[in-house]
Amino acid sequence: MLQVPVREQSQASTKAVILVGGPSRGTRFRPLSLDVPKPLFEVAGHPIIHHCLKAVTKVPDVREVILVGYYDESVFRDFIKDASKEYPQLRIVYLREYTALGTAGGLYHFRDAILKGKPERLLVLNADVCCSFPLGEMMKLFEEKDAEAVILGTRVSNDTATNFGCIVSDSHTKRVLHYVEKPESHISNLINCGVYLFATECIFPAIRSAIKRRTTRPRLLSYPSSDNLESSFIAAGDDEDAEKSEVLRLEQDILSDLADSNRFFVHETKDFWRQIKTAGSAVPANALYLQKAFQAESSELTPPSATIVPPVYIHPTASVDPTAKLGPNVSIGPRVVIGAGARVKDSIVLEDAEIRHDACVMHSIIGWSSRVGAWARVEGTPIPIGSHSTSIVKQGIKVQSITILGKECGVGEEVRVQNCVCLPYKELKRDVANEVIM
Ligand code: GDD
Repeated sequence: MLQVPVREQSQASTKAVILVGGPSRGTRFRPLSLDVPKPLFEVAGHPIIHHCLKAVTKVPDVREVILVGYYDESVFRDFIKDASKEYPQLRIVYLREYTALGTAGGLYHFRDAILKGKPERLLVLNADVCCSFPLGEMMKLFEEKDAEAVILGTRVSNDTATNFGCIVSDSHTKRVLHYVEKPESHISNLINCGVYLFATECIFPAIRSAIKRRTTRPRLLSYPSSDNLESSFIAAGDDEDAEKSEVLRLEQDILSDLADSNRFFVHETKDFWRQIKTAGSAVPANALYLQKAFQAESSELTPPSATIVPPVYIHPTASVDPTAKLGPNVSIGPRVVIGAGARVKDSIVLEDAEIRHDACVMHSIIGWSSRVGAWARVEGTPIPIGSHSTSIVKQGIKVQSITILGKECGVGEEVRVQNCVCLPYKELKRDVANEVIM
């Protein structure tokens, strides 16, 4: 009798795409993105995209994950190699757009690769969000409602809602009635978390219709991304370049039309959710992922003790003096050295950095190979729980609430650095506050 290979017997019917963007995006992640592409920046001991990937591995019928972006091919090579070893059941590939094609343009460009093997459903995740990714619950809603699409939503305060895609839904049926990307005025505080589940038979025709519509009605040329909040409208035929432009955005070009169908639903998460946009936003993301790992009793975390206030992640190659006190919400990278009596709280300390004895680091990111001198203080200001912003107003000036030292910075002995962003290779020899040090 003919033996059918296991893979073919259990036809994978869901594929996942993680939208990783490219080097022209994530500029607000500077100075950290000067040295590492944002999706690979480590929070809670793992690259940001590893957290997305891990969530996808929990969906039983996913066998293939496609990273779509416009970074150079080499950027994700090592990550994919390591992740493929960790998750041998998965095929993980990177597909590179020749230019930024937008959140729907990339999907459409690679539709043949995505549709290979005839998946019935497509999970799409923005790489720059931090959440508990309740994909199982989204799948359940999708099945129950026989949906064309399910979007993950969360409630935010009324004054920040317009920075996101806003969803008006029927609270009883969970049907999406109306979707507007970053509206000018308030329509709802239920916002788009950047996580979707689509029926493949609907999403690609929907993108195709959006492409056709371009020739018949005015469209957005420059879209309201949070990286670019201005928009300009150009009437059809007005601009030849626009005609050729292949940039298509799920949010502006597709989702509002899906809301006209009766089969677009929202799953509202009550769990944590944050965007990872500014460099400072890596600190709350780090805290949330560490807290999640702590609740799950992850063996990766350092056990609590008199000097370890959980949750704390310490890379096995780091050296921490037993009299240093760490936590909560601290990640210590490879080969970091922490001296006697040092105090580190709500912070990320990156590879090869050194915090000398009796120094204090709070609400900060210490860049790769940076040095914080003895008795120095590097500190930011705590971000209020539930806030989606990482800037605060101090003495009438908008400053970053998190202090960030770029790569190979030095802070002198007893020097105090408060609410500063410091570009790579700078030496800080005097006290500084509320400054960008270039
Ligand atoms: N492959 C690819 N190609 N990815 C892209 C492109 C592109 O041309 N443009 C953006 N992305 C990726 C980004 O890297 C990010 O992961 C995601 O798509 C969304 O990025 P933005 O386009 O900057 O959108 P946003 O973050 O301002 O808003 C989106 O996310 C919010 C949630 O975080 C929207 O979906 C909002 O509605 C949503 O609230």
